[in-house]
This record gives sequence, structure tokens and C-alpha cells, in this order.
Amino acid sequence: MIIIKSKKELELMQEAGRIVAGALEVVKKAIAPGVTTAELDEIAKDYILSKGATPAFKGYQGYPANICASINNQVVHGIPGPTPLKEGDIVSIDIGAFYMGYCGDAARTYPVGKVSPEALDLIKVTKEAFFRGLEFAREGYRLSDISHAIQVYVEQRGYSVVKALVGHGIGQEMHEEPQVPNFGPPGRGPRLREGMTLAIEPMVNQGSDQVRVLDDGWTVVTQDGSLSAHYEHTIAITEDQPLILTQGE
Ligand code: MF3
Ligand code: CO
Repeated sequence: MIIIKSKKELELMQEAGRIVAGALEVVKKAIAPGVTTAELDEIAKDYILSKGATPAFKGYQGYPANICASINNQVVHGIPGPTPLKEGDIVSIDIGAFYMGYCGDAARTYPVGKVSPEALDLIKVTKEAFFRGLEFAREGYRLSDISHAIQVYVEQRGYSVVKALVGHGIGQEMHEEPQVPNFGPPGRGPRLREGMTLAIEPMVNQGSDQVRVLDDGWTVVTQDGSLSAHYEHTIAITEDQPLILTQGE
């Protein structure tokens, strides 16, 4: 069952979303060669707590950190640690927070110092893929219209979308129905309705779409070692334009 949110609930989700967006901003500012992802984790946690919110990932199915920080060939769910970022790396930062019982979830891939034009293109295409999908996040379309638009755009640009992981409904739980794949035929799945809230999150690989999980039980990496990028927002379906909830002031 897809849970429809009231106006009041959407306001709380927007507040949670603003906190997530703010946390991404402070982490972005801290990213530089020599900084460790454990330091980024601490910065995000302090920011979230200072806003009266709680990191959503910590303890989720035993996840050991506050954020996910996935470097280069790591797709998602990288566990922050003591390894310093290097000039030329790309790092995907995924942050979730609960505020007044409601969850916001967003991710972005950032360059560390100066990176290759190839890496920058991957980041740009992943962001644009989200916005191609978002065009269909409106009443009257079906869920898989979003999925289809993302896949078509990414493949047109010569990249692949990860299929082993998907976006999701979100609200009082971080993961609610429906699943939001980044691939598939159009015109399938539930009709989109005002008050539905979704985390749309394309994960895009430079090479093949195949992924595997490292021995830490969390870190998802590309099978072929190619770079991967991630872009996620929590959004609401409205009577008109989709509303991006994980956005700053
Ligand atoms: N944005 C990710 C998701 O939607 C974050 C989950 S990480 C976890 O699934 F550690 F909390 F699982
Ligand atoms: Co998510």
C-alpha cells in the first residue's frame, strides 16, 4: 500500500528534507584531498543533531555509520572510514534524517579537487537522469514512466543504470512502498497521485550495470571496477509540479 501524505505531513517531510539538504551542503564544503570519509560522517551527524533531527541510516539493519560515502567504483552504501580522499576521486554522499517522525533521503556525487572530464560527465548525466525521471513525477503518469525516462536517457549517453538497487517510497519509514526502479518499460505500476512521496535515485555506472557487495556486507561496487555516480532527492507528487523536499531554503 502506498501511503498518501497530508499537507501537514508534507510540511514535516519538507523540514526533514531541508535538514538533509543542509547536511549535504556542509559535507560538500568539507570535501577536499586528505579529508577522510569518517570526518565527513562526523560533520553530517553534528549538523543533523544540531537541527533537532536524527541520522536515519545509523543502526538501519545494523548499518554502522550516519551517512554513506562511496568512492569511485563504489556505487552506494560505502561505510565511512579512515581512508583519506585523494585528488581526482569522486565520492557519493548519501544522507538520511528523521525529523518529527518523518524521513528525508538524498544523495549527490562530488568531485574531490580536480577530476577527469570523464568523471565529471558521469556526474552530470546522473543528475540529469534524475531530472528526466522527475518530469514524469506527476498525476496522470504511472510509476514506471519515471523509471523508463531515467533508463532511456542514461543509456543514450553510453552509461548503464544499476538494476540491483532501486528508489523507494518514503515517509514515516525510510523505505515504504512502492519500489522505484531506474529502468523498465513505461506505463506500468501504480498511477501517481497527489500526496505520494518518493525517493528517486538513479545509480549510474560508466561500464556494465553489474554490481557486487564487498565482504563488509554493505559496500556495493561495480563488477568491472568502473566509476559509478548517484543522485537522489525525496520528492512529493502534487496537483501540479513535483515538489523536491530535500532542498535548502
Ligand atoms: N539512500 C539509501 C536508501 O535509500 C540509504 C540506505 S543506507 C542504509 O536505501 F544504511 F541505511 F541502509
Ligand atoms: Co534512498
